[in-house]
Amino acid sequence: MRTKEKMIAGFSKFSKPEKIAWLAKHFFTDNPMDVAREFASFWHTNVEAQRLFDGMSENTISNFYMPYGVAPNFLVNHKLYCVPMVIEESSVVAAASSGAKFWYTRGGFDSQVVSTIKVGHVHFIWNGIDPVKMYSFFNDIKPYMLQAIKPLTENMEKRGGGVHRLSLLHLPEIENGYYQLKLEVETCDAMGANFINSILEELSKILTDKANTYYDFNYTERDIQIIMAILSNYTPECLVRCHVQCKINELGNFEDMDANEFAEKFVRAVNIAKKDVYRATTHNKGIYNGIDAVVIATGNDFRAIEACGHAYASRDGQYRSLSDAWIADGAFHFELEVPLAVGTVGGLTKIHPLAHRSLQLLGNPSAQELMSVIAAVGLAQNFAAVRSLVTTGIQKGHMKMHLHNILSHFAAAPHEIDAALTYFQEQTISFSSVRNFLDALRNQSKPIITM
Ligand code: MEV
Repeated sequence: MRTKEKMIAGFSKFSKPEKIAWLAKHFFTDNPMDVAREFASFWHTNVEAQRLFDGMSENTISNFYMPYGVAPNFLVNHKLYCVPMVIEESSVVAAASSGAKFWYTRGGFDSQVVSTIKVGHVHFIWNGIDPVKMYSFFNDIKPYMLQAIKPLTENMEKRGGGVHRLSLLHLPEIENGYYQLKLEVETCDAMGANFINSILEELSKILTDKANTYYDFNYTERDIQIIMAILSNYTPECLVRCHVQCKINELGNFEDMDANEFAEKFVRAVNIAKKDVYRATTHNKGIYNGIDAVVIATGNDFRAIEACGHAYASRDGQYRSLSDAWIADGAFHFELEVPLAVGTVGGLTKIHPLAHRSLQLLGNPSAQELMSVIAAVGLAQNFAAVRSLVTTGIQKGHMKMHLHNILSHFAAAPHEIDAALTYFQEQTISFSSVRNFLDALRNQSKPIITM
């Protein structure tokens, strides 16, 4: 098919069946009807529910399912949680649950919210020679600005939030005449993106209007060019710290390793992730296996959370582990410090029925409580991953999950699963070896293994 034939105008105006029919015809020429049926087979049977999902995005043709699991036994700040997790990678929920269970018997997770400030900027250029004049202008109009945005901030103020600080920054090292109006806000239980962006756009207007008539500006100085007004997803001051600790001898034994050896090896592994970018990236990826899963399950923005976390991990110029581990006075300590700008009201938390259920499952937490739980899941996940890495290796657990996936692919019956689990304790797992084992079992003959 020539590329030109795949061009289309007005696609968004098509009905959903028309969209699918067009895609099937142009992109799945071998089996258009089967593909069309497959896309349609994932539509929600409840028309209203489907309408809801279609409303969340554009040009929707189907739904992309992700597994929704739960990790019980999370003891965070002396409260027990069963945590919802949406993730497609096998063994993540199992690892979080195992980390949770491990620390449940050792006092649980201690999560402290350090601060909850969110940030946004109006980026602008002012070509006046003297920055002092710009600062005077800003100081003169600041009270007016704060007053003028009251209609936008009033409700948030009633909930205990609102503008925390409004300041002006001059950054000529980025560009000549470049300034930022920096807005810091408390958005309580809301993620607050719309709230922040609306205020910033209002501030931009005021900035240009007031400059235009400012008594101390000459003709050139009256011109302010707004480049953009947008919140920042870098929220180092929306921060939570989660900590676990126990006496080293309470760690127990790990396969052929005693508790002391384990603790020392664990601390070494974390130290490597604090200094080596290759290891740090994988180490932090493991943390976000847990964090993202809860963030998605609760209807929060995982792209914002990840972008911020990785920027925070590089805050001193080198990308490092977000967690830290150490031994002090005979005790093993493990800690995660991570920025988490999440909300528990508004946005998708309200619209997505399962996000709503996730929050109910967590006891309808405040944003701060949710930050505490998510940090605990990140730490549990990291603990379970590093524990595996420094003891048995990661493949043992992974391959077990992989075996389950292959068995489910071949629709193995319960007695076949039992037989396979026993057999593959000592054998290498691969797609073909499992298929051969099942064939042999089903034919009642001896398994022939090919690798
Ligand atoms: C796999 O998704 C995550 C791990 O690689 C994390 C880590 O290495 O710490 C196991």
